[in-house]
Amino acid sequence: MRKHIVAGNWKMNTCLKSGQELANAISSYVSSGAGEFPKIVLGVPFTHLYKIVNTVAFTKISVAAQNCSDKESGAFTGEVSAEMIKSTGASMVIIGHSERRTLFTETDEIIAKKIKLCLSHLMCPIFCCGENKEEREKHLHFKTVERQIIAALFDLSELDFGRVVIAYEPVWAIGTGLNATPQQAQEMHEFIRNLIAKKYNKTLAGNISILYGGSVKPNNAKDLFKQPDIDGGLIGGASLVADDFIDIINSFNH
Ligand code: PGA
Repeated sequence: MRKHIVAGNWKMNTCLKSGQELANAISSYVSSGAGEFPKIVLGVPFTHLYKIVNTVAFTKISVAAQNCSDKESGAFTGEVSAEMIKSTGASMVIIGHSERRTLFTETDEIIAKKIKLCLSHLMCPIFCCGENKEEREKHLHFKTVERQIIAALFDLSELDFGRVVIAYEPVWAIGTGLNATPQQAQEMHEFIRNLIAKKYNKTLAGNISILYGGSVKPNNAKDLFKQPDIDGGLIGGASLVADDFIDIINSFNH
């Protein structure tokens, strides 16, 4: 069975001290709470990885980087490799976020390389895909997401594909307060699962966690997470406020 996941994407926010405080607040809540929680992931800045891995040690919280280099190692000033991330104890990497695609001109090809490097260092990629506003308006959203998934993931072996988490994040919903309706999100998640079933098989498609991202807040998480093909969320803004993130985590329990 696939996992429920609530992943925070802190983006370029928090300094080490405030980041640790945030991680502490979440891990204390999770450690003291009874009952079932979804898998919780904190996507933190590179500078915080090692510290936060230690802050959440002995909880079930996983730590993710928000990007990695598409190169293995070498003379690439300022880059951070998958191997370096792995050495901090982080176990996941967010790859192909729309901000990386649009602001840092990451192509499908570059993203595919990052996915492979991340997997080769035994970390789990959280692969982001999603259409922009214009593509949605022109009804090209399914085509766009299909292209992104084929380019980045469809030459992976079945075993490797099984280690990927997919996050569908319509660009027009990110940081805008305009989230996709549960129906719009469900429709895309079902489409993605069918694509995987066609390319690989139904069992694998049924086991992949597909998260929704884009203005997920405590007041809309429950309706989104109730959808049959939505397995959780990738949360930006609301992951920076411990109480909001905790409310979103708890949306699975009510
Ligand atoms: P948001 O960001 O929740 O602030 O819309 C989501 C994301 O970018 O992953």
